Amino acid sequence: MCLFAPLSKAIYDSDAIRLDPRPITELIHRTGDWALIFLLVALSVRPLSRILRKNQLLDVRRMIGVGAFVYAAAHFSLYVVDQMFDWREIASEIVHRNRLTLGFVSLLGLTALTATSTNGMVRRLGIKRWQWLHQAIYLIGLLVLIHYFLRFKLIESTPTLAAGLFGWLIGYRLLVWRRKTGNELPTWMLLALSGTIAGLTFIAEAIALGIQANVSPLRVLQAAFDFNVIRPGWLVLGAGLTVVALDLVCARFAKQRRAAPRVGSSERSWPDPLAKRQPASGRFQGDRC
Ligand code: HEM
Repeated sequence: MCLFAPLSKAIYDSDAIRLDPRPITELIHRTGDWALIFLLVALSVRPLSRILRKNQLLDVRRMIGVGAFVYAAAHFSLYVVDQMFDWREIASEIVHRNRLTLGFVSLLGLTALTATSTNGMVRRLGIKRWQWLHQAIYLIGLLVLIHYFLRFKLIESTPTLAAGLFGWLIGYRLLVWRRKTGNELPTWMLLALSGTIAGLTFIAEAIALGIQANVSPLRVLQAAFDFNVIRPGWLVLGAGLTVVALDLVCARFAKQRRAAPRVGSSERSWPDPLAKRQPASGRFQGDRC
């Protein structure tokens, strides 16, 4: 359902799109935005599944990833239509304009990941090689963000926000990888991660805006506390703190459930046949939020 939401929104906005001086450009922007949003959501599924203690979320990750590919493919197709199928011109633009080269490489990467996302391909490649290949999603995300940033002459808030959220997701992945426990991160670590990434977002934006406007980055940082405009750093902090709050609530529920005696468990003296059906893949069971 969610995969069709951008399409429904475009149909809903069709009158406004038709009135746009260049409707196709508007559609190119919309599909590009949605491809990036799906990509970020696909990357958020693992952290969310750990924080909400809901492993079922992992089942929708593949679909969301395919959604990112579908919107990226539509984005490229619209660009081709806009260029009136002049393949020579398209090839030349992709080769000579860095921004489009990055977009093209990202699209190739997304195509490879989508083509290898089936169960058959997981078996054929072997889980280790498959996982290694699919780590490329982080590199693809980075290329897409640069493609996005380069669209503007000046630093803009929306790509900065996307970069901040992407930074949080990479930070989360690195922390889980370093801990090597495969478990969810403690709440204090999520808090530290959110504060650090929000801080870095403020600093990076202040440096970039400072260089652009030829003013001290410290003055730009100070302006972030005027709250005339909500800077992307605040939104990244807000998103991080929401995750921390969710983690606290879910951890509390999980603790209560673990502490509560299971109905009938004390009387049962034979093994539970259902226990056999539980996967032994290290997925957490029964302590869902
Ligand atoms: C061959 C591949 C690609 C081409 C030729 C391409 C081309 C374009 C073009 C022409 C624009 C509009 C720029 C402007 O109006 O100045 C754009 C913007 C954008 N593209 Fe791509 N792109 C490609 C791949 C991708 C991929 C794979 C993604 C995401 C997964 C993506 C995400 C975006 C985003 C987020 C924007 C900005 C939209 C906005 O301003 O609201 N692009 N791209």
